[in-house]
Amino acid sequence: MSSRREFITTSLGVTVAGLFGTQLGFSQSAPHSGLSILVLGGTGFIGPHFVRHAMERGHRVTLFNRGRTNTHLFPDAEKLVGDRNSDLTALEGRRWDGVLDNSGYTPLQVRQSVDLLRNACDQYLFTSTRAVYTDFSAEVMDEDAPVGPKDVPESEWSGYGPNKVLAERIVQDGFGARTLIARPPVIVGPGDRTDRFTYWVDRLDDGGNVLVQGDPDDPIQFVDVRDLAEFYVHLLENSITGIYNTEGPASALNTAGLVHGVRAITATASKLHWLPWDFLLAQGETPQDSLAFWQPPRGRYLNYGRMVNRRAIEKGMRFRPLAATANDTLDWHRSRPAAAQQTLRAGLTRDRERILLVRYRDSR
Ligand SMILES: NC(=O)c1ccc[n+]([C@@H]2O[C@H](COP(=O)([O-])OP(=O)(O)OC[C@H]3O[C@@H](n4cnc5c(N)ncnc54)[C@H](OP(=O)(O)O)[C@@H]3O)[C@@H](O)[C@H]2O)c1
Repeated sequence: MSSRREFITTSLGVTVAGLFGTQLGFSQSAPHSGLSILVLGGTGFIGPHFVRHAMERGHRVTLFNRGRTNTHLFPDAEKLVGDRNSDLTALEGRRWDGVLDNSGYTPLQVRQSVDLLRNACDQYLFTSTRAVYTDFSAEVMDEDAPVGPKDVPESEWSGYGPNKVLAERIVQDGFGARTLIARPPVIVGPGDRTDRFTYWVDRLDDGGNVLVQGDPDDPIQFVDVRDLAEFYVHLLENSITGIYNTEGPASALNTAGLVHGVRAITATASKLHWLPWDFLLAQGETPQDSLAFWQPPRGRYLNYGRMVNRRAIEKGMRFRPLAATANDTLDWHRSRPAAAQQTLRAGLTRDRERILLVRYRDSR
């Protein structure tokens, strides 16, 4: 796994190679500085980390949103108000070097912004999702694996993943070679509103008898929101185009590695109890709901935790250590209001966990 220090060294290496490209025989040009960047969204989860990092790097950021979410953020950034469903007039007649589209969920939303911005910016970076893939059973789950629902006429596609496939196509049609698409897995870290990773830092910090679903060898992937945001800025600064799986960590991790890695940042004693998927499924718990975060590696989810991230790494994506993600997420979580700390949006309640542990013990 690459360290932060290696990332900085690599970044500096790119800069030096850019400055002395001709003498060293590199074709890479220097990263762009002082970019103007429009963020469609910007005040949810990825957005704030991206905006902060881009501004620290000296770029000028414009935010476009409805002015409802986290309106206190970024008083020094330009803010344009509108609605992706109905009113883009605030974007008319303007120009930016790059656009980050975090808030496009439907083909209509993306078509409207692409039509308006295709001649008004150099690059369009669309945040898509791992959910575009048909399934996760291909032997090699790289960016060329099949996307979109199988055996369903396109006219009947609906829902999150299929809509993102259609939206990706609209970006590609509008921007051609200037297209940038990221397909993140579960995004974790400070500010995450889904609690899928936060559940584990909270649970292990609480200690005691901890139920862990599945098998210790189940593969797992996720991305720290800050690694994603930094990669986004790096892509725009270097005019990099293409489609990228943005799964972390850099090398294979199993759920034992995840849980022990998170446990290592707490000082609380805990005992881990691995309960098989089949037992939990029979009890009505599912990876789509209460057990969200990783999947049993079989059937259509065979390689869900083994997505190939080589292309992103080759273009400069780096991943901070799990301990850093876990520590910072726990610090952030403990700073949340009491209600948010007590009622997580993912994971088992402590009562349900106790019941399942007893039932499993009695079943053996
Ligand atoms: N979380 C994950 O694990 C995960 C995984 C894979 C992919 N993704 C992708 O990540 C993206 C979400 O990222 P994020 O929430 O972190 O983005 P963000 O840029 O931080 O925040 C979402 C923004 O969209 C704005 N917005 C919402 N509806 C709008 C509308 N109709 N018109 C204009 N602005 C609107 C919100 O502000 P207002 O409310 O003020 O309008 C907010 O600023 C999505 O594309 C999702 O598919 C997420």
